[in-house]
Amino acid sequence: MSDSLQRNDPNSPTASSPHNGDGSINHDGYVNPLRDPQDKRLPRIAGPGGMVIFGVTGDLARKKLLPAIYDLANRGLLPASFALVGYGRREWSKQDFEDYVRTAVEQGARTDFRESVWQRLAEGIHFVTGTFTDDEAFDRLAAQLEELDRSRGTAGNWAYYLSIPPANFPDVCHQLDRSGLAQSGEDYWRRVIIEKPFGHDLASAQELNRIVNSVFPEDAVFRIDHYLGKETVQNILAMRFANQLFDPMWNSHYIDHVQITMAEDIGLGGRAGYYDGIGAARDVIQNHLLQLLALVAMEEPIAFTPEELQAEKIKVLRAVEPVRPFSKYTARGQYTADWQGSNFVPGLRDEEGFDPESTTETYAACTLQINSRRWAGVPFYLRTGKRLGRRVTEIALVFKSAPHLPFAETMTAALGQNAMVIRVQPDEGVLMRFGSKVPGSAMEVRDVNMDFSYSEVFTEQSPEAYERLILDALLDEASLFPTNEEVELSWKILDPIIEYWAKRGRPEGYPAGSWGPSSADHMLERDGRAWRRP
Ligand code: BG6
Repeated sequence: MSDSLQRNDPNSPTASSPHNGDGSINHDGYVNPLRDPQDKRLPRIAGPGGMVIFGVTGDLARKKLLPAIYDLANRGLLPASFALVGYGRREWSKQDFEDYVRTAVEQGARTDFRESVWQRLAEGIHFVTGTFTDDEAFDRLAAQLEELDRSRGTAGNWAYYLSIPPANFPDVCHQLDRSGLAQSGEDYWRRVIIEKPFGHDLASAQELNRIVNSVFPEDAVFRIDHYLGKETVQNILAMRFANQLFDPMWNSHYIDHVQITMAEDIGLGGRAGYYDGIGAARDVIQNHLLQLLALVAMEEPIAFTPEELQAEKIKVLRAVEPVRPFSKYTARGQYTADWQGSNFVPGLRDEEGFDPESTTETYAACTLQINSRRWAGVPFYLRTGKRLGRRVTEIALVFKSAPHLPFAETMTAALGQNAMVIRVQPDEGVLMRFGSKVPGSAMEVRDVNMDFSYSEVFTEQSPEAYERLILDALLDEASLFPTNEEVELSWKILDPIIEYWAKRGRPEGYPAGSWGPSSADHMLERDGRAWRRP
């Protein structure tokens, strides 16, 4: 078989029709891999089973989960028997729910819409009406799933996706337990997928974990941190542990400090209900940024199994401690009305639904230390914010200056510290910054960049994080899901900072479109450092 032609897989959704109208299959039944969305790097196909989504009318389900399920089906990674059941209060028929899912897919899917794939998926789509406390409705749900097991072949394997506020977890878990839907059997599985926020501090996270774990054993719980589903985040592990180049300098001998940035240009319009009282630290640092830190700082796992990966992440999170005093080593802010690019945007206090007196921060920064031989003395500066200069997530490892420069000082005026920047998004890639001679007769040295860009090197488009994570949950592949212990350790790191802020009233304002409050700049200036301006 040639590289460019691959025989049509009889199990693939494309197999049913040699002419599906999008040019992916030619007349001999051969697939042109460049046009076929079937994934070549993730050929793992989920076995028989289905998913029930609670909170299916919410933003996350509409924008991310439903499109991701279609994309998986379109890539041939879901079984033919896959079933998708929505549960909610609306009085929807099967057809109403089908229409809703179709619109969400047409608007949000990453891969092309193909009628044949859709039709097959739509056959397995059902809706059950009910509230989270309604015994009778959960009994109907149980009957529906049993019927699908018989008619569609889902084989008793069900994943329950709780895309709902954590306050509803106890009711739903209790109902799943009561109606016999939560218990795995010898030859079928039941799993629960839960979305953050996993509590709002250590105590509430412990309580939430207790409730979930009282119904589902920990190995049946999949906590989503969608950053772990991003290709560039997984690439941190590939770069660190598949190469010899970086490891020798990945420590306090060579690294001066690490900056982890997750900046967004969007504001909070429309999200007040979720965000007010939560804030940037709980929303992003507690989960996404501490997970990034763990991947950057952890030791090499013995193997790439969930247990080994989680063990290393837990070990490093246990060694993390916030640097004090918090008056100097943390910063927070609230965006104020200003120009962001060519738009004049409102400040947080003018956003609909926000209490003008709200003390919720939209920018948070903190300094962490890791008490280990590898990282002693290397500060990790973490920052995140809304309405900042631009959308960018990156991890910058900034190296110590060379101990001695045998050049005239004037010749190195434009030489900074070496840096390695992992660009998580957008412009996914890795950048190395180092000094190079400027062409000419003088020995002048200045910074240059060496840039690896995903889009230039790979023809494959990265799957969406939710595609990867939903597939992994169906496959019982737990590597990319934080455990209850990781979640609790992350709260333990953050709680003292949040408690300190809570006593301090309103955060400082920062203009929309800027790079955050001045206290965040001072936080680094005190250490003789500066934030990168990505
Ligand atoms: C979510 C946060 O977890 O991540 C949001 O709750 C944030 O506030 C979002 O906007 C950002 O995700 P991404 O993938 O666009 O960087």
